[in-house]
Amino acid sequence: MEKIPVWIDCDTGVDDAVAIMLAHALEELSVVGLSATCGNQTLERTFRNTSRICRLIGADYRVFPGAEKPLLRPLENASMFHGQNGLGDVDFPLPDPYVPEKTPAWDAILASAQAYPGQLRLVATGPLTNAATALTLHPELAGLLHSILLMGGAAAGGNVTPAAEFNIHADPEAAQIVFTSGVPIVMCGLDVTMQAELRPADLDSFAALGNRCGHAVHDILQCSWRALRSFGLTGVAQHDSCPVMYLAHPELFTGQEAGVFVETQGALTLGKTVTDLWSDKKFDRKTALVLLTVDRERFVSILREQIAKLP
Ligand code: RIB
Ligand code: CA
Repeated sequence: MEKIPVWIDCDTGVDDAVAIMLAHALEELSVVGLSATCGNQTLERTFRNTSRICRLIGADYRVFPGAEKPLLRPLENASMFHGQNGLGDVDFPLPDPYVPEKTPAWDAILASAQAYPGQLRLVATGPLTNAATALTLHPELAGLLHSILLMGGAAAGGNVTPAAEFNIHADPEAAQIVFTSGVPIVMCGLDVTMQAELRPADLDSFAALGNRCGHAVHDILQCSWRALRSFGLTGVAQHDSCPVMYLAHPELFTGQEAGVFVETQGALTLGKTVTDLWSDKKFDRKTALVLLTVDRERFVSILREQIAKLP
């Protein structure tokens, strides 16, 4: 079976960390590179966190630095859910020696797309600043990428405002560039990612695996769980694992093609992914496959099975 080449652009972040572990473990995928963007935390933290997770899983992936701030707006981080260090305030060592890459993410993504013409899947699990910058600086990239699978947005609802989800709200201008790029998009919005939650018993079952990655999943998600529980939620949504899981197990999901565009001007609706899924009036074109449901039990079971394979 030919592996699917994948580039992960992330703002590591606790659920980004789980998504990287999952992508590394899934035999259907081949992670060809990673890049970090500001988002959940500053770029310095997300960049180093991504390398910390690579060391945790025993992978020597190259990790490239991206945006220190959104295209036009100041950065608003998500430390309430990801902790001050971005990994739930759990300490993980950096690779030793730690030799950070210097090539900017947008140039590295282009080089990788040129190495895998028409085949590279760009998985974006943070704000879309790096993807938008790459598509703008290198117009040829749109014709080289197979697709962009992004965690972001929502056909209904939001988690930063009633209208907007964090990754899109953090850089709506970047998101609009991506949604209008013409690259085939799979949108994993809150509609589906909130269903992909790990409940307390699930979290305990990862610790019970006994390996360091199982314990890591349990430990880094405790910070989020404490915050989410106080809001009355029943578990910790694995937002960022959804695009990764979809690549290897699309059968777990349902979705619908739709026109999706991003509000960049609204006062109440800034960062909303406006879709024509349920409206009589349709946009003039479909721009994304919007995922709407996931089989949670099978999602959790496969995630646990994959994490069990790691160190
Ligand atoms: O809204 C959820 C998204 O925001 C996830 O990617 C999480 O990591 C945060 O970045
Ligand atoms: Ca993220």
